[in-house]
Amino acid sequence: QSEPTQEPAFPIPAGVFAERVTAVRHYTDTLFSFRITRPQSFRFRTGEFVMIGLPNAEKPVFRAYSIASPSWDEELEFFSIKVPNGPLTEHLQKIAVGDTVLMRKKSTGTLVLDALIPGKRLFLFSTGTGIAPFAGVVRDPETYEKFDQVILTQTCRSQAELRYGRDLVENARSDELMSEFIGDRLLFHTSATREGETRGHRITTLIENGQLFEALQIPPLDPATDRAMICGSMAMLKDTEKLLDGLGFEEGANNKPGTYVVERAFVD
Ligand code: A2P
Repeated sequence: QSEPTQEPAFPIPAGVFAERVTAVRHYTDTLFSFRITRPQSFRFRTGEFVMIGLPNAEKPVFRAYSIASPSWDEELEFFSIKVPNGPLTEHLQKIAVGDTVLMRKKSTGTLVLDALIPGKRLFLFSTGTGIAPFAGVVRDPETYEKFDQVILTQTCRSQAELRYGRDLVENARSDELMSEFIGDRLLFHTSATREGETRGHRITTLIENGQLFEALQIPPLDPATDRAMICGSMAMLKDTEKLLDGLGFEEGANNKPGTYVVERAFVD
């Protein structure tokens, strides 16, 4: 591993990894992704999150970030919002290749295959940066060993915000190695709720009126065969959970697998 180009101004706190930024990409005024080196000893389950910080203070601010990489990735990818005056993202959005990012050593989370009982189809419902954990899940061969079909959905306000997810799916489908296990079993549905033809198309609306299933030409949600993961804003989580509960789905956890799982760890 090469040396960081910029030495951190503060000592690295004990018990955290200090990793080097290898790539940064900005999508909109409010969204960017970045990649960091992966510590050799760091193991995680696809879909988990870690605590991320910057070496810019004696006591750095840490925030929960979903790992957007599958567990086989040699680096670690993250997809982040930029919050004006956000204690972490205000600074994190300015990182460049070669900078140091801090990461706590333990990952955790409920958006993992282990927290779901076996099924045939896996639905991954996201809004905004909620797609991050699913960026790992859709690139993990284990997902396709456990499920016949994977249906990823992302809803954002604008088309520009959907770019990260679109690139992700396109790259995964065309990648030589990943296309082998993905085949034609990954479906992707996007909608921009405040722009163009999909204005007003919240995922909850599309499930309720059946448009999601019509558009993808698949049977509607059925707790007998389907499993789901949800990641998005508090309001979206609440409404989607209510919908799934109404259809007979039951929330699962690591110690008690169910037919759907939710992550509540993120808000800046
Ligand atoms: P909308 O434009 O109709 O509010 P936000 O940026 O506010 O987190 O929203 C991200 C996306 O999630 C937007 O497309 C937004 O739709 C959608 N959304 C917001 N609240 C809900 C909800 N309660 N249920 C489903 N989707 C929601």
